[in-house]
This record gives sequence, structure tokens and C-alpha cells, in this order.
Amino acid sequence: MKSIVIRQPDELVIEERTLPTPAAGEVRVKVKLAGICGSDSHIYRGHNPFAKYPRVIGHEFFGVIDAVGEGISDARLGERVSVDPVISCGHCYPCSVGKPNVCTSLVVLGVHRDGGFSEYAVVPAKNAWPIPDAIQDKHAVMVEPFTIAANVTGQAKPTPQDVALVYGAGPMGLVTVQALKGVYKVSQVIVVDRITERLAMAEQSGADWAINNADRSLQVELEAKGIKPTLIIDAACHPSILQEAVNLASPAGRIVLMGFSGEPSQVAQQGITGKELTVYSSRLNANKFPVVIDWLEKGLIDPDKLVTHVMDYRQVGEAIGVFEKDQKRCCKVLLTFAE
Ligand code: NAI
Ligand code: MN
Ligand code: ZN
Repeated sequence: MKSIVIRQPDELVIEERTLPTPAAGEVRVKVKLAGICGSDSHIYRGHNPFAKYPRVIGHEFFGVIDAVGEGISDARLGERVSVDPVISCGHCYPCSVGKPNVCTSLVVLGVHRDGGFSEYAVVPAKNAWPIPDAIQDKHAVMVEPFTIAANVTGQAKPTPQDVALVYGAGPMGLVTVQALKGVYKVSQVIVVDRITERLAMAEQSGADWAINNADRSLQVELEAKGIKPTLIIDAACHPSILQEAVNLASPAGRIVLMGFSGEPSQVAQQGITGKELTVYSSRLNANKFPVVIDWLEKGLIDPDKLVTHVMDYRQVGEAIGVFEKDQKRCCKVLLTFAE
């Protein structure tokens, strides 16, 4: 089989590898579609501190089960599945409180263990979530990015009366906007970014107001309308944003952080305590595959609005290049694997 391997930072190859056999409790997935994410590019460029090389990247993938390991029923052969990349131990403290996404021995497919940019991938059977017939392949491959929004909103619990502010109109900002509008029916969702084309995509995903802060102050724009957001989600992830968010937030508001920057953010306790703000963080997803599959079945979200490119996996180098360089036109890039 062919696999997309990062041998070391900046060296991507399509390698011939032996077809893997699923171990006990695992299934083998014949991959049909996979999505490119920022973290794939970070591993490729050597910017992910968790990555070990060589590595088959890819943690957003969909396919069909074509082999099962010991203990897994043959009935699963032929099942269409989306794979949850989060592998957890099931018994540590975070696992015991429903947060397998921060398991003390967390393994993420495509980061710590070989992932889905491959003709075949072996994964724990319980990570392979069956996809109902009514959900198309091109939607099933998008479950993982939407689980990030499901995790964020699962923490902050949006309500229709919230006034939400989303920083960033990249893939993560857009999935969040769709969840806020489509699932939680938040009355006002404001998105801020510096790229006009991306803000237009945010409007297509349901944003009520898109603000370009390249040459305007977000604070001035909001104050002019007397708006104090009750829920702020940082899907842009610059360390300076937390401080601004604390200033902008309504008393009793919530802020959700998604970033992994190693740089400190500067915030005064007074800003947070004075308004009794709640600050959440959200990493990957905690058992959110069934949640997003349900959203898709009910038609509450529309992954098509994010997909800008579909390319053959043999063009992966070019695909990652477009993804990295063309932020104006590129959002989600899907890779197709041959039948
Ligand atoms: P992206 O880079 O495509 O999008 C970020 C957007 O934020 C860009 O459009 C950029 O123009 C905008 N931006 C940057 N600074 C800004 C500022 N000060 N004000 C307004 N807009 C600003 O990235 P993507 O894929 O959407 O991911 C966003 C972030 O989320 C990344 O930092 C990534 O590491 C993080 N992430 C976190 C996850 C988690 O589970 N916590 C999962 C996936 C991504
Ligand atoms: Mn992803
Ligand atoms: Zn654990």
C-alpha cells in the first residue's frame, strides 16, 4: 500500500509500505477520503513538539472496514466509518471524568501513531464510528473538524440569547460558527479576522456580522453598537487575544481558548474576577463523534461550505502547499484515495 510519510521535518514522501494486519481489538480501514489540517502542515514543517518521525500524518479520515482483528465481529466488515484520532487509556483521572482527549497516556492518530494519509490504516475498533447511509462520504470525512466545535460548545454551552464573538475565520472558526448558528441557534454571532475572503466564508457559514480588524479596532466597532459579547471563542489563537477578550466580554461572560502557543498572555486578575468571567480551554474532542454524526443526520451543519479543494492523494505536496500559502481562497482540502 501507499502511505504519505513525513520522514523528517520538510521531507514528505509517498512510500510503499506493507499492508498492516489489525491487532486484537483493531480494525483496518481502507481509506477513501482524508482532510488536511493545520497540524499536518505543522508536523511536515517540524513545528509540532509532540510529533515523532517518520510519521504517516492525517487525523481526519473516512473509509470502509476491510479487515478485523481478534475479538471484533466480522459483521463490521464493509462498514463505512469515520475515525476518532483520540486514543485513550480509559482509566486515568482525565479518562474517569470524561476527558479522554487529555488522557495521561494520550495517543493521537497521525501525530503520536501513524494516521490516515494512507491507502489503509489500522485503528482501535472503538475509534471507528459507523456512518449512517444517509450521510455522504464527503460529509463523513468532515466529522473530526466539527468535533472540535462540539468540544468547544460542549464546554461553553451556548444559548440562543448569547452574543457570541469568534476570533478567526479559518477552518476552526468556521466550524464553530456553524455549530453556534445551526445547532445552538445563537441569535448573534460576530466573527473577526483580517482576511476579507475568509470573512465572506464566515458569512456563508451563518455569521451575522463579520468584522475586519486589519485596519479597524474591534473594540471601537463593538462599542459603537454597545455590544458586549457574552461568549468569546478564540479560534485565531494569538496570545494577545486573551487580554482583548477579557476587556470586551460582558460581565458573567465565558471565554474559550483553543490555542497552543508557548508565549505567555498578559491578563490582569481584576479583568477576569471583576466580571466573574469563566475561561475554558478545549483540546481535540472528548467522545464527540456521535454528537457530530447526529448533527449531520439532522442537517444542522453543512461541511460543503468549508471544502474549497478536492485533490488526489498523489498531489499531497501541492495540496499542502496550497493550504499553507493561499489563505484567501483555501479552507479545507480533501485528499481522495484510489478505489
Ligand atoms: P488558520 O490559521 O487557518 O485560521 C486562523 C485565522 O485567524 C486566520 O484566518 C487569521 O487571519 C486569523 N487571525 C489571526 N490572528 C488574528 C487576530 N489577532 N484577530 C483576528 N483574526 C486573527 O487556523 P485554523 O485551522 O482555523 O486553526 C485555528 C487555531 O486553532 C490554530 O491556532 C490551531 O492551532 C488551533 N487548533 C486548536 C484545536 C484544539 O483542539 N484546541 C484543534 C485545531 C486547531
Ligand atoms: Mn484537524
Ligand atoms: Zn486515560
